[in-house]
Amino acid sequence: MNDGLVRLVSQRFDAFASRYLEAPGDGFAYTLKVEHTRRVLDIAETIAREEELPERLVPACRLAALLHDVGRFPQYKQYHTFRDADSANHAALSVTYTLREKLLANVPAEIRRLVLGAVYLHNKRILPELSSPDLRTVAQLLRDSDKLDIYRVLIAHFSQPEQLHPEVALHVLNEPDKFSEPVLQALLARSYGDYRHIVYINDFKLMVIGWLYDLNFRSSCRLLKERGYLDELFDSLPQHERFDLLRRQITQELAQRLKDA
Ligand SMILES: [Fe+2]
Repeated sequence: MNDGLVRLVSQRFDAFASRYLEAPGDGFAYTLKVEHTRRVLDIAETIAREEELPERLVPACRLAALLHDVGRFPQYKQYHTFRDADSANHAALSVTYTLREKLLANVPAEIRRLVLGAVYLHNKRILPELSSPDLRTVAQLLRDSDKLDIYRVLIAHFSQPEQLHPEVALHVLNEPDKFSEPVLQALLARSYGDYRHIVYINDFKLMVIGWLYDLNFRSSCRLLKERGYLDELFDSLPQHERFDLLRRQITQELAQRLKDA
């Protein structure tokens, strides 16, 4: 049931995405999202398995991963950007297009409800209080899986000598020695970075370093450590004693989370 359902929705997602991939010109942007989706699905399955999630929640986690960025395709087609602030909320678009394209047809109502809820919530800066513990779990798992793959995408992007596709990092300024004080302050105070303060490439790196505070599962922290994303990000920042301070703080936080859970 579980595998058959995911395979069916996966085929529908492929058919949906292929309509965009076939259009001339913007193949790079759409391919990026198809590959991201595949990896997020893979990560979601790993976390669900390691956390021994109740069987009833696993299909919802897998389907939410598959559909979370469906809205990116119409977003890029219409606006030529992935910046929600300059276009539309892509999570809301994902819900709209999932319904419009009947991507969840024949999926049991309870699973559908969890999937649509988690997809809608995946890009909120902070997950709101939710009365349904099941929805909270699926939404948390999707958010962690998405972040873990975005680390990968961004690190690959930052390591290119010339950033050919600035939309990946939301068009931040590539000034290698600059950073914005409020972003660093927020992280040292153990709070999340705020997209509104992001100006420079280093702000962006700092903000994603701070995502550690928002990870919900021990398995997510394990993957983060194993993949070495934080080290890569810190190594790519300019020399600054306050970055060293932050690095010690973040390293301790990660060790604590791996010990505690
Ligand atoms: Fe997204």
